[in-house]
Amino acid sequence: MEKKEQLYEGKAKKVFATENPDYVIVSYKDDATAFNGLKKGTIAGKGVINNKMSNLMMKMLEKKGIPTHFVEELDDRNTVVKKVQIVPLEVIIRNVAAGSFSKKYGVPEGTILANPTIEFSYKNDELGDPLLNTYHALALRLATKEEIDTITNMAFAVNDAMKAFFKELNIDLIDFKLEFGRYKGQIVLADEISPDTCRFWEAGSWDTTKHVSLDKDRFRRDLGGVEDAYAEIFKRIGLN
Ligand code: TMP
Repeated sequence: MEKKEQLYEGKAKKVFATENPDYVIVSYKDDATAFNGLKKGTIAGKGVINNKMSNLMMKMLEKKGIPTHFVEELDDRNTVVKKVQIVPLEVIIRNVAAGSFSKKYGVPEGTILANPTIEFSYKNDELGDPLLNTYHALALRLATKEEIDTITNMAFAVNDAMKAFFKELNIDLIDFKLEFGRYKGQIVLADEISPDTCRFWEAGSWDTTKHVSLDKDRFRRDLGGVEDAYAEIFKRIGLN
């Protein structure tokens, strides 16, 4: 399958048309942004790692019965995926308090939550991806009740599968962000699953005062060792 015209360029990926109207090619860049694009940088080799890792995760999740957009990896940075209509919700699952959750609710990072949580943001850069609840999403016609129920069930199923997968690799899955799309009347998991979109902490490296991050927090927080963290995750999942 070959790239035709570019349809879209996002912060970390480009999307190209193909000869098949049902498929597009996603091309992963090394560009990194944080804080809604305010902080910009490059993480050398990130595009390759995120492409291959995301594809591995999608294949693992398909085996667990979760439908995804994945079709075929073309090369290091390019993958054929189903051309979905993205549901404009960022879906965040949390197992352990960190980031905006810790700030908003005044809980130290590293506090284990009594149960996993789900939250939705309106995927809208101009508005800064504001948090919203199911009633807001329905009121704004972002998705139907049935779609939100499906997305919720799928997101928790992804959490169960990913938590188990990373536990084997001595990594604690703290939280992550998912996006879903509509494809031929079905909700499928879309976008990417990578150190850009997940918090991975070295197992046993943390209590409520410190932890070792193996993810994009090393870039967001200027912790150093960004490339090494991505490379370490890549190695642990068996891709290098
Ligand atoms: P948060 O604590 O900043 O709300 O982030 C929660 C999770 O979502 C974390 O794993 C990083 C991921 N995330 C994205 O993938 N994209 C984003 O734009 C933001 C803000 C977070």
